[in-house]
Amino acid sequence: MTKADAKKRIEKLRVEIDHHRYLYHALDRQEISDAALDSLKHELEMLEAQFPELITPNSPTQRVGGRALGKFEKIRHGVPMLSLTDAFSPEEMKEWEERNAKLLSPITRPLLGDYYVELKIDGLAISLVYKNGFFVEGSTRGDGKIGENVTQNLKTVEAIPLKLGEKQDVISELRRMKLFHISRFLEKHWPETLEVRGEVFMPKKAFSALNRERKERGEEPYANPRNVAAGSVRQLDPRITASRHLDSFAYALITNMGQKTHEEEHFILKALGFKTGPHNKRLGFLKEIEQFHGHVKKIREKLDYEIDGIVVLVNRNEVLLRLGVVGKTPRGGIAYKFVSREATTVVEDIVVQVGRTGALTPVAHLRPVDVGGVTVSRATLHNEDEIQRLDVRIGDTVIVGRAGDVIPDVKVVLTRMRTGKERLFHMPKVCPVCLSRVVRGHDEAIHRCSNPRCAAQEREKLYHFVSRAAFDIVGMGPKIIDQLLEQNLVADRQDIFTLTIGDLLPLERFAETSAKKLIAAIEVKKRIPLHRFLYALGIRHVGEETSIELANAFGSIEALQDASYEKLLELHEVGEVMARSIVAWFKNTRNRSVIRELKKAGVVIENSVTHRAGGKLSGKTFVLTGSLGTMTRDEAKEKIRQAGGNISESVSKSTSYIVSGADPGSKYEKARTLGVSILTEQEFLKLLNK
Ligand code: IVH
Repeated sequence: MTKADAKKRIEKLRVEIDHHRYLYHALDRQEISDAALDSLKHELEMLEAQFPELITPNSPTQRVGGRALGKFEKIRHGVPMLSLTDAFSPEEMKEWEERNAKLLSPITRPLLGDYYVELKIDGLAISLVYKNGFFVEGSTRGDGKIGENVTQNLKTVEAIPLKLGEKQDVISELRRMKLFHISRFLEKHWPETLEVRGEVFMPKKAFSALNRERKERGEEPYANPRNVAAGSVRQLDPRITASRHLDSFAYALITNMGQKTHEEEHFILKALGFKTGPHNKRLGFLKEIEQFHGHVKKIREKLDYEIDGIVVLVNRNEVLLRLGVVGKTPRGGIAYKFVSREATTVVEDIVVQVGRTGALTPVAHLRPVDVGGVTVSRATLHNEDEIQRLDVRIGDTVIVGRAGDVIPDVKVVLTRMRTGKERLFHMPKVCPVCLSRVVRGHDEAIHRCSNPRCAAQEREKLYHFVSRAAFDIVGMGPKIIDQLLEQNLVADRQDIFTLTIGDLLPLERFAETSAKKLIAAIEVKKRIPLHRFLYALGIRHVGEETSIELANAFGSIEALQDASYEKLLELHEVGEVMARSIVAWFKNTRNRSVIRELKKAGVVIENSVTHRAGGKLSGKTFVLTGSLGTMTRDEAKEKIRQAGGNISESVSKSTSYIVSGADPGSKYEKARTLGVSILTEQEFLKLLNK
């Protein structure tokens, strides 16, 4: 980048960053995520490092953060409110444990295999003080030592008890929980003053309701629940706080009530009348913590509050204490966060890709950027409507996000960053690969190449054909297919099965052994079960599950290819769009000839036994949720299919049974409301073995 370009970009970045800082610090509002703002700051820092002469005293990089609101009375915390260091990967968790292990003696070291894990709520830390059972003082964290007195506001939060349970009730509750050392301790030393720490937050539902109202009034919506929670707690008018429907979980008991572990703290908090996180639990080894982290990541979207990871604490308070504190963070605790999955970058180009079904997908080519530990240089823009909705142009600065393993996508365009040189993008009128006409079906958002023999489509068809759930030809990846196409060794799918060792030898990276190996891999896959064969054909809308149902219902390709639209509709998985697509596919003469040619080339389709009539689960539809103890989900599905049952991904009135394993998802709730029979794993096994 030239200095002149850098100067322009720096100015834009400063304006943008200042805008977001003003929103954040002055208005308690946020339009973009912390990660996205960090990303902008990072770019500015890099440019300023490259051109130090462009640094000015009022650059956001030269200022230190902090908010001086001074509206509330200050409160000094009796015990400092600490924070936690972050970890983002299993390796960092391992290092954390190893560091701690070194600090402990051989006697206390084994106690490290005892952890308490909690969801890390994305809210605001608070401290609550009770005197003689009554809530008397609530404060924010502030700098950890001195916070703000927000008692009146916290009194409006229903989850925060104004009065604690009576001594005798609490003690008998603890006895009922068999926590006798604590009940005994409390009989003698019931504390007059009690201090509790926790988190206040705004439930997602309350947040969206609030934003709906704001929209109706023509006001800007808030960016996220955490900021609203923070803003609401630090309101001078408690009536506003009350209107925000905040919620709270308690997560630590500061006062000594005889607790020996963090888990016990949670039991006591509950007995006292506090709301605690329902997912929190005690776990042993890091492996279990890893599983829990993965599980929580999965249920994250379904929770009614935002979380940004899990908190892991050494369960034994004695060990936690012994490990000590560095700076403001205890060594015995860590925030195992979900990787922040947003960053800002520049759209360098928008390029159209042609898929297997001819769909044209616009893809943003990005200036490479690290998004949560992975370098990203492409992001899908989905379709023309999405481009219009985002108003994304070539040259725009955008926020890209990455959800799990999904392809990154462009979330927002930072329009203030525009220089006027950005270029609009239009969907091409002709296919970029074969120059045939591009069409957009009515009621479809997708543009498609009208040429069924378009080279791009052919290529994608081949990729799909050999993929794992289809023919599963080991060693035949996209790179090899590209070469085979380039050398005209393969034109269509059947050609794969007539390849010889000699054909492969001239190709890059092929020698005698590797060529032999690939040919052998092709040879063994010539026998293929009908459902895989159907999936491999790549009929639009026909996925793995449907292929299985079609195979079970029709038994042979011959029976299926003559099936009528009405007959197809009788199947559980098949709707009108799919039925039409299947009929059209088999009507096409070229498709029929592909099947013939494949057979000629030696492919043997193993017919399925039609289970529908005889099996003991025939006519029954199952939905699975949660994890099963005695088998994997795929194994369970296979068992159901073998007994003639159907699997569906979603619960509806026509679901016969839902099999509910550990930690079931929202399907469970849905099944309950619809009155669908719910089977435990044991009941399911019984049904299978009847
Ligand atoms: S335990 C020493 N448990 O995360 C601090 N913290 O840096 C022990 N947080 O600001 C904290 N949910 O407010 C704990 N279930 C939870 C939490 C939690 C959110 C916040 C806490 C603090 C930060 C830790």
